[in-house]
Amino acid sequence: MRLGVLASHHGTNLQAIIDACKNNELDAKVVVVISNNFLSKSIQRAKGADIPAYAINEAYHPTSYLRDIAIQTVLDCYAVDLVILAGYMKLLGPETLDSYKDKVLNSHPSLLPKYGGKGLYGTLVHRAVIESGDDVTGVTIHLVDGQYDHGETIAQCFVPVLEDDTALTLEERVKERERRFWIETLQTIITCGSITRM
Ligand code: GRF
Repeated sequence: MRLGVLASHHGTNLQAIIDACKNNELDAKVVVVISNNFLSKSIQRAKGADIPAYAINEAYHPTSYLRDIAIQTVLDCYAVDLVILAGYMKLLGPETLDSYKDKVLNSHPSLLPKYGGKGLYGTLVHRAVIESGDDVTGVTIHLVDGQYDHGETIAQCFVPVLEDDTALTLEERVKERERRFWIETLQTIITCGSITRM
């Protein structure tokens, strides 16, 4: 399966997917990486793995329509089968979403619909979980639509919230689980030959 990964910042999930493909843990290949951030670690990770990488942002594509078309075109050029948003901080536009209908997945580090949506990202998600007093959180992988952290849930896994957790320790533990969860979920999709609700 040919994967196109969109990632904005650190790219640790991207790296986990690249490594799993290289180790044959995943029967797939990351064929292109797109970021909105030219200086991101995600772009460096792609280059380090000899994967073509593109920064698509306001610098050369000043309108959301132009960025949407550019993203769709790059994905088409690399004949991507499945699009993965792994820490991608922007919304996808209608051209890309229509072309890749039911073929775009995002992960979010909470049990959606809890603690998702605009403004809830990174450590803020985990702070909200701790402040709520929940004793369990997790990771959601879902189909992507035109809203933040919205779309049909494909798979969820659970992570306990420990009594002495801070937002940072919880974030680290959830992200560690998230990286493995991407691999498990992708391998199930590959084995089934289509996106299966788990
Ligand atoms: C992940 O927790 C992802 O779910 C969220 O942002 C984080 C990205 O981490 N949207 P990284 O860039 O892959 O390290």
